[in-house]
Amino acid sequence: MNEIIQIIKERRNTKNFIDKDVAKIDIETLLGAAIWAPNHRDTQPWRFVVIDKESSLRDKISEGIISVKELTSGKKQTDEQIESIVKYVQSRPVLIFVFSLIDSNPIITEENYGAVCCAIQNISLAATSMDLAVGWSTGKIAQIQNLTEMFELKEELKVVGVLTIGYPSSQQSKQRIDFNEITSWL
Ligand SMILES: Cc1cc2nc3c(=O)[nH]c(=O)nc-3n(C[C@H](O)[C@H](O)[C@H](O)COP(=O)(O)O)c2cc1C
Repeated sequence: MNEIIQIIKERRNTKNFIDKDVAKIDIETLLGAAIWAPNHRDTQPWRFVVIDKESSLRDKISEGIISVKELTSGKKQTDEQIESIVKYVQSRPVLIFVFSLIDSNPIITEENYGAVCCAIQNISLAATSMDLAVGWSTGKIAQIQNLTEMFELKEELKVVGVLTIGYPSSQQSKQRIDFNEITSWL
């Protein structure tokens, strides 16, 4: 009991990683934990795409980020900016794109999104317990156009986050508002 509470409190969203490979078996362990998240109506709405260090898709991901940046800024990226994006994407440890099933019923789509967020938390907590760390992004990398086509996914999906998983080099300390200040006992 105390152990899980300690892991919950120790988990930090992480952006900086050391240059150490993550074993495939460890990623499998994390995904095995992810799928035990709660999910209403047994939709099991999570879908994962793992991009390991050697994946040839990293080039396409860089191109996708460059396009998103150009679209949102209305300006062409300079050679320097492009180089920095390519370098950043190549240097990331394992990336996992996490998707949620879209349903014709918007209530189910929302429940599915909630379930997939729980799956991501399972990954993050399991990672913390294994001395790994996770960065959850909904930034430019998650906004790449036509991601499902790039990954040849056939279902109707929305991106819930792009997770970077590796061994942390540094982590920010975080604060929370005390629950007593935001809780009513009636
Ligand atoms: C839905 C969601 C989207 C997030 N997207 C980003 C993101 O795009 N970039 C980022 O740096 N952190 C992102 N985060 C991580 C939060 O910024 C982080 O959880 C928050 O700062 C609290 O820090 P902690 O998780 O270490 O306690 C996201 C978290 C959630 C739940």
